[in-house]
Amino acid sequence: MNRSAILILVAVNSVLLGIACLRPARATDASIARSLAQATTRESKGVADRGKLLFKQLSCNTCHSTNGDDGLGPTMKGYFGSEVQYTDGSSERVDENHVKWAIINPNNKIMQGYGPTMPAIDYQKPPRSLQDVDDLVAYIMTIE
Ligand code: HEC
Repeated sequence: MNRSAILILVAVNSVLLGIACLRPARATDASIARSLAQATTRESKGVADRGKLLFKQLSCNTCHSTNGDDGLGPTMKGYFGSEVQYTDGSSERVDENHVKWAIINPNNKIMQGYGPTMPAIDYQKPPRSLQDVDDLVAYIMTIE
């Protein structure tokens, strides 16, 4: 087989794999990891203004205040850049990738003092998208 035939085969396989990846309704660990890789390498950056709108439209604000008040979930005031503690005893510094991961896979680790009640947004199903996640992250990064 010559080189271009191999390249075509690889391309066809990637497309088939891509189609297969679109199918599962529930996100598997592998698809979450892929989404995260996509989310962290994509060119388009989040748009904070759009993220602010989404934060309301997707009801994030019903559990997360932005003024320091505690709710069903932690306030987003002072969250970015802070160190969060988890029920498994670990802690993590909140940077951009941390927030993406927290939104894509919210119940991976549970913050101390809270329950596993955060719903995952169905970013694989239009009209939702990874851009929404980027935009939410961009907004959360602006909340001081
Ligand atoms: C029903 C209540 C609820 C809703 C709605 C909700 N969350 Fe949460 N969220 C929580 C709870 C509870 C926690 C803490 C427990 C945990 O770690 O999952 C949390 C944690 C978080 C964290 C921090 C996680 C970490 O590990 O650093 C972020 C960021 C976050 N939510 C963003 C969002 C965004 C963005 C939305 C909207 C798309 C949203 N949340 C909607 C309840 C909610």
